Amino acid sequence: MLTLTQEKPTVNHAELTAWTDEVAALCTPDRIRWCDGSKTEYDELCNLLVDKGTFIRLNPKKRPNSFACFSDPSDVARVEDRTYICSKRKDDAGPTNNWVDPKQMKQTLLPLLQGCMKGRTMYVIPFSMGPVGSDISQIGIEITDSEYVVVNMHLMTRVGTKVLQVLGNDGEFVKCLHTVGAPLNPGEADAKWPTNATTKYIVHYPEERAIVSYGSGYGGNALLGKKCFALRIASVIGRDENWLAEHMLLLGVESPDGKKDYVAAAFPSACGKTNFAMIIPPKALNGWKVTTVGDDIAWIKPGKDGKLYAINPEAGYFGVAPGTNEKTNPNAMATIARDTIFTNVAITEDGDVWWEGMTKEPPKNLTDWRGQKWDPASGKPAAHPNSRFTVAAGNNPVIDPQWENPNGVPVSAFVFGGRRSTTIPLVYQSSNWAYGVYLASTMGSETTAAAFGEVGKVRRDPFAMLPFCGYHMGDYFNHWLQFGRGLPAPPRIFGVNWFRKDADGKFIWPGFGDNMRILKWIVLKIRGEANAVESPIGWMPTYDDIDWSGIDFTNEQFDSIMDIDREEWKAELLQHVELFEKMYDKLPKEFIFMRELLLSSLWRSPAKWSLEPERIDDGDED
Ligand code: OXD
Ligand code: MN
Repeated sequence: MLTLTQEKPTVNHAELTAWTDEVAALCTPDRIRWCDGSKTEYDELCNLLVDKGTFIRLNPKKRPNSFACFSDPSDVARVEDRTYICSKRKDDAGPTNNWVDPKQMKQTLLPLLQGCMKGRTMYVIPFSMGPVGSDISQIGIEITDSEYVVVNMHLMTRVGTKVLQVLGNDGEFVKCLHTVGAPLNPGEADAKWPTNATTKYIVHYPEERAIVSYGSGYGGNALLGKKCFALRIASVIGRDENWLAEHMLLLGVESPDGKKDYVAAAFPSACGKTNFAMIIPPKALNGWKVTTVGDDIAWIKPGKDGKLYAINPEAGYFGVAPGTNEKTNPNAMATIARDTIFTNVAITEDGDVWWEGMTKEPPKNLTDWRGQKWDPASGKPAAHPNSRFTVAAGNNPVIDPQWENPNGVPVSAFVFGGRRSTTIPLVYQSSNWAYGVYLASTMGSETTAAAFGEVGKVRRDPFAMLPFCGYHMGDYFNHWLQFGRGLPAPPRIFGVNWFRKDADGKFIWPGFGDNMRILKWIVLKIRGEANAVESPIGWMPTYDDIDWSGIDFTNEQFDSIMDIDREEWKAELLQHVELFEKMYDKLPKEFIFMRELLLSSLWRSPAKWSLEPERIDDGDED
């Protein structure tokens, strides 16, 4: 017998009522609960998760109001090979997405969804991506049978009855259906982390603005506001409505004279986006301040004044825990000091959390992410490499005062960076919008996790959007080019690479807080207050253009991270062709010319182009 666990709010939205009724009839939950987004609801569901054994309440003296949980070992990350863009035409999904005809996908999913919520509660979560009621924001309704999802959505989005009020009788919303795919028979005990160990589907129907996620309870697979809606579906809406939904952090940079610029930056997963978004400038850079608007996603629209305005559609952070510490990201450590949900980290004997890289020495007697006593000699990590913290953005000590401005913040620059041990210099500026789009389209990152195959191989990840673009990548490149043509003064575009290594395989650049030196040059450059020289691949600062106060980084070291090796770049440009061939039918013609231009300027330059002419290794016929 179906029961309502709470009073249902008044819903006069015919489409919403029809859809929730249809899902309830299909998935046959035992109970339905409409979420109101209140603190009482959050606390109640966290307590329920503690009672079920999913959540472990952490020591309130060490980590107030915080919980830890361990997922099923089969459910630890996004599943890109099980992620589908089911547009009506295959050609609209493009060569970089998995595609299945939507009619066929619905037939596949139907028997899986029938009765999938048996024995469980169906939660209906009205949520807003972006400040409730903002013109840039969008509304979603997530139906889920997971309490873990509800409490995480509370932190990551704006949930509640106020969203239903904005939706009104006929507002548009994205339909987000999620199930862990683990129905319960009467009397059957529930798992601590219910999941479907064998079958997972993360499905997007771009034309219907709908998402169906089956079989996983983890992160981006289950918190459907994040990658599924705010990137895959929103990128399609942005294409249709002339705006951008991007895998970008957003930060504010304030100089000592009080002038402020906002910068949007795209890096592939696992390149330290959260660290960069919360960067603390070195003390020696007196008076420079950085504030966070967002750490993962930006929605960007042209304003009436011709500038671009961006919001962070999320309300929280779902950050990677390993490697986060007081040196790499003190602001993140302060953010997660309380009110946080930790997934797949290790637990200390006094009820706190730990992960690899938090401290040099692991504490004694850890419980690992599988819930077992951890043996440091086992060679296995105590925390899963993709373990996470979920926390509300409001906890961040350097949150930008404008982060909830419904009109967004003006964007002055875009920064694109991958993880490259060779070839790509520390920083360079594209000479114009079209070349910037080329730079971002061809960016790549060396793989770090075995999940992507051979470690160290360059995986092209255009705009860091490869797993997140809801349509054909070639159309996406054209959208960016077209978008820029309509802007009277488009933001400047920069490439960065924090990860270049020396001949001994050591990182040359200290990274973390010192990345501020590069950010300072970028901001001064866009203000017309810093210099640059022309290199074969764009504009570059010389050694004297960077603020080196408080650090011992030599001219030679700087050269070794900025030089342009012609042979390496020729190989790089050949790899661009491999990417272009994949999407030849939709490739912007500008890209062919851009590549030719790059090639010819490399031919004209020395074998090793350097910022310091006297050190140029002019090894051959030049
Ligand atoms: C993320 C990702 O979790 O990019 O943000 O994978
Ligand atoms: Mn991300």
